[in-house]
Amino acid sequence: MSILESRPLVDVDGPSRNPAVNEWVRDIALLTKPDEIVWCDGSTREWDELTKMMVAQGTLIRLNPEWRPNSFLARSDPADVARVEDRTFICSEKQSDAGPTNNWRNPFGMREELDTLFAGSMRGRTMYVVPFSMGPLGGPISQLGVQVTDSPYVVISMQLMTRMGTAALDLIGPDTPWVPAVHSVGAPLVDAEGVRHADVAWPHNPTKYISHFPETREIWSFGSGYGGNALLGKKCFALRIASVMARDEGWLAEHMLIIKITSPEGKVYHVAAAFPSACGKTNLAMLNPSIPGWKVETIGDDIAWMRPGPDGRLRAINPERGFFGVAPGTGITTNPTAVDTVWGNSIFTNVALREDGDVWWEGLTPKAPGHLIDWQGNDWTPSSSTPAAHPNSRFTVTADQCPSIASEWDSPEGVVIDAILFGGRRPSTVPLVSQARDWSHGVFMGATMASETTAAAEGAVGRLRHDPFAMLPFCGYNITDYFGHWLTIGEKLGTDAPPIFSVNWFRKDENGKFLWPGFSENSRVIEWIVRRIEGDVEVVDTPVGKLPKVRDFNVDGLDLGYEELQSILSVDRAAWSREADEIEHYFEELGSDRIPDQLHRELSTLRANVR
Ligand code: OXD
Ligand code: MN
Repeated sequence: MSILESRPLVDVDGPSRNPAVNEWVRDIALLTKPDEIVWCDGSTREWDELTKMMVAQGTLIRLNPEWRPNSFLARSDPADVARVEDRTFICSEKQSDAGPTNNWRNPFGMREELDTLFAGSMRGRTMYVVPFSMGPLGGPISQLGVQVTDSPYVVISMQLMTRMGTAALDLIGPDTPWVPAVHSVGAPLVDAEGVRHADVAWPHNPTKYISHFPETREIWSFGSGYGGNALLGKKCFALRIASVMARDEGWLAEHMLIIKITSPEGKVYHVAAAFPSACGKTNLAMLNPSIPGWKVETIGDDIAWMRPGPDGRLRAINPERGFFGVAPGTGITTNPTAVDTVWGNSIFTNVALREDGDVWWEGLTPKAPGHLIDWQGNDWTPSSSTPAAHPNSRFTVTADQCPSIASEWDSPEGVVIDAILFGGRRPSTVPLVSQARDWSHGVFMGATMASETTAAAEGAVGRLRHDPFAMLPFCGYNITDYFGHWLTIGEKLGTDAPPIFSVNWFRKDENGKFLWPGFSENSRVIEWIVRRIEGDVEVVDTPVGKLPKVRDFNVDGLDLGYEELQSILSVDRAAWSREADEIEHYFEELGSDRIPDQLHRELSTLRANVR
């Protein structure tokens, strides 16, 4: 914790070299009226003090240090367990600039609303000032921000997820751009009459607003303490605001993992890949190849910032410092690397507590322990009818604890991207892997990415849910302009543009059985992609792109029949004709007029090819 500790509210002489930061902190304090202000330094001492305080208050449970040293369990309020997309707003001056996929609010109206909500919202609480860097400190692709928050849980999570503290603050000079991010759980401890109320373990407010102002590059988040709603460096800054910066400055802010691949010949490749949530992104980021001689290392599991480097090639960084991973389904067989990563120094939110003071969630081990305390604090046994861990329960941990982390994961200049992958969850139609004919076709693949709905809650089963570039809830501006921006970046990269591939691990047969084994076997697809980068394998030109020749595809040692392989490496013209109709309808929904002509031409080409 900063030696400045608690500061009088009207003092403008804050510790920042940038007077605008000090003034902004003072102004937010005057609005929200906290008892005190603490400038966070990101130290171990600060972590220790805050975690001790939260254990005493009941917000955190210290896990058994023999099993999970320096680790904690937090249980959120059951009404605050996930990102709230319907309460997420893009407040651009023109509604058309927010586009068809975002909730839009007039920025003036939203400011008035927020002023009312934030007025006195931190009464009785401490306001923490959290300076942070997205990307390595001082790196050419990195960006700086300052979050104020009244949640100590958010402070320690930001410590794991970003480069946070004095070093980040020191980088904000008088002329350095920085993104202001205001966060309050919206649960003052002192009411308007001055009466103090007792705190609860997980304060939040039923009214929630996750608001972004793209023109002024500001974030205002009210009412939630959970994940992407509250850790404002992640989805709010690194995707929604950064996508706007990237549009204006000629780079890309993407919902992509980054991996490093080493071939048996010892050659290194870097791949960025976009997948919608719940498509095994973390598993690919931590892939353990089944094929001998191949190695995959992790650079990022969720977000990539990419820009053309001095040599004209696309370079990428992972702007985050840690992983905020979904716990259920992360297990000792499905992703042992992730399980090893959270050996200690981790925060677990909404998972179950074991009798021995360790944590458990569905899928961690094949067999559930006989007795647990579930995520809501109730007794649980394997015969209970509800899950022990919330389906969106999470682990938060720094990336450097990951056994598969690549040595260059925090290189300030980033890594050269050799290929880009787009994947959805498609039981039919989309082949296991195909290469785009060129950049424009690749942008079409990204723009038309979709998953088939599987649960009744998502609407009719088998319907397509489009998630362009996996950016549906994360693009901070009009998605059709974003498609155009991708096309412009391709023009800039010219012949240095990396090849683009579509992948689909989720094909099923007519009985609903997965045809492709997935997980570590996905390394076979990676192998084919690397062979394509090298120009070592021929392709079959199909209406939807370049597909592997079945005989070239490495299935050695795999229990997969020739017919099954052929069915996931072939193109069903009738299905693709229906897909073209679907895409046309989807383009109409997005607003055909604003869709770049090149994408209309790609659709016409698809139609002509499948005729
Ligand atoms: C995430 C998401 O939490 O994409 O990363 O929803
Ligand atoms: Mn994500």
